[in-house]
Amino acid sequence: MDDIYIIIMAAGEGTRMKSRLPKVLHRVCGRPIIDYILDGANAVSKNLPILVIGHGADQVVEHIGDKALYAKQERRLGTGHAVMMAAPYIEGKDGYVVVLAGDTPLIRGETLNSMIEYTIDGGYSAVALSAKVDDATGYGRIIRTPNGDFDRIVEHKDATEAERTIDEINASMYCFRIDSLLSSLDSLSSANAQGEYYLTDTLTIIKDKGEKVGVYCLDDYTEILGVNTRGQLSYADRMMRYRINNFHMEEGVTIIDPHNTYISPYVKIGEDTVIYPGNVLEGKTKIGRGCTLYPNNRICNSQVGDGSTSESSVILDSIIGAHTYIGPFAYIRPGSQIGDNVKIGDFVEIKNSKIGDETKVAHLSYVGDATVGRNVNIGCGAVFVNYDGYVKHRTEVGDNAFIGCNVNLVAPVTVEDNTFVAAGSTITDNVPEDALAIARSRQVNKEGWVSKRRHEKEQEEN
Ligand code: UD1
Ligand code: CA
Repeated sequence: MDDIYIIIMAAGEGTRMKSRLPKVLHRVCGRPIIDYILDGANAVSKNLPILVIGHGADQVVEHIGDKALYAKQERRLGTGHAVMMAAPYIEGKDGYVVVLAGDTPLIRGETLNSMIEYTIDGGYSAVALSAKVDDATGYGRIIRTPNGDFDRIVEHKDATEAERTIDEINASMYCFRIDSLLSSLDSLSSANAQGEYYLTDTLTIIKDKGEKVGVYCLDDYTEILGVNTRGQLSYADRMMRYRINNFHMEEGVTIIDPHNTYISPYVKIGEDTVIYPGNVLEGKTKIGRGCTLYPNNRICNSQVGDGSTSESSVILDSIIGAHTYIGPFAYIRPGSQIGDNVKIGDFVEIKNSKIGDETKVAHLSYVGDATVGRNVNIGCGAVFVNYDGYVKHRTEVGDNAFIGCNVNLVAPVTVEDNTFVAAGSTITDNVPEDALAIARSRQVNKEGWVSKRRHEKEQEEN
C-alpha cells in the first residue's frame, strides 16, 4: 500500500460560531470536533496528521499536543493557501495525501479508506468526496461534464443561478497524488468572489494537465456535514447521538428514548442494561450488565457494576459495585468507591469515601473522607464532620457498626467493628469494638412545667 499523508485544515476563525473557543474545540457528544477528525486520520494512516492552525492556535496545540504536526497559517487566505502552508511536510514524498476539513465530525474512517481505494484503484490523481443534499446553500457544487465526469467545483458565491440548482456538494475532503497536488498549488490564483486561494481549483488544474480527476459520491450525506454555526453543532450532536445510541442498542442495551439519552463516545455498557430518558453518561464511564438507569442520572468517568440501579443521581469519578442501589437524588463525588449490595439513598452525599459491601446509607447523610466497613447502617441525617476549618480529616467506621440518626462523627475518629452509636451523638473520641457510644446529655422531664408556666403568665397579665 502506498504511503498516505493527512492534512487537516483547521485555521479558520469559525466566525459564525460567535465564540471565544476555536471551532474545532467545540464538542459533539462531549468530545471536541477535532478529535473525531483525528480518529478518521488515524484510521487511514500511521503518519502523524499535519494540522494547519491559525485562529486560536495555542488552544488547539494545547489540546492536541504531540498527536499531530503543525503548520501555522498566519493569514487565512483560503483552503488552497492552508494546504500550501502544510506542503513542506510532504515535499519529496511519494504516495497520496488526504486533505480534510477540521469541522466535519461525522466522517468515518471506513469512508476515507474507501475514497483512498477508489483513488488508487481508479488511477486518479485527485478525487473529491461529495454527496447530494436537500439544501446545498453555501456549499461548493460539483460540476460534471455531460457524460458525468468531473469538470470543476464552483463555490456558492461564485456560482450562477443554474449552477446553484445542483444538489451535489463538495465535502471539502479529498485524496491527491502528492506530486500532482504540489505542482498544482503553484498555479492557484485568488481571482474569485472571495479573493481566496481555493483548494477546489487544484482539481481543475490537475485535470487540465491531462491527469485523471474523479468524484467519490456518498449515499449518507450526514457524514460530510460541516459545523459552521451553533445550529449545525446541535445537528451534528444529534446525528452522532443516534450513531452512538444505535451502536449500544445493537450490542444489547435497551435505550427507551434514544432522542433523550446522551452517551459520550468512550462509554461502555453491558448487555441487558435498561436506560430511561434523561441519562447523561460522560467520559470513560463503564456501566455493567443488567443495570437499570432510571431517569436523569449524570454519570461521569465512573464504573457501575453489574445489576446496579441508579435514579436521578450524580456520580463523578467513582466506582460503584454490583447490585447496588443509588438514589434517587444521591450525589457521589470524586474518589468514592461503593461496594456490592449497598444502598445509597435519597439526599445522601458521598465524597472521597470507601463504603463496604451490604452497607446502607439510606437518607439525608453526608459521608466525606471516610472508610466505612461492611454491613454498616448509617442512620438518617448522620454527618461525617471532616473539616476543621483548616484541613480535612478521615473517619473510619468498622464492619457491622450501627450509626444512629443525626450522629456527628467528628474526624479524625475511629468507630470500631460491631459498635453502636446512639442517635444524636456527637462523637469526638474513638469507639472501641463491641461498645455502645452515647454522647449527648441525659433527658430531664420536668413534671407539671407547662401548666405552671401558663399560670405564671396569667398572673402577670392581671
Ligand atoms: C469549503 C469548500 C466548499 C465545500 C465546503 C464544505 C473551498 C474553497 N470551499 O467551503 O467547496 O463545499 O468547504 O464544507 O475549499 N481553512 C483554513 N484556512 C483558510 C480557510 C479555511 O484552514 O484560510 C479551513 C477551515 O478552518 C475549515 C476548512 O478549511 O476547517 C474549510 O473552510 P471553510 O471556510 O469552512 O470553507 P467553506 O466556505 O465551508
Ligand atoms: Ca466549512
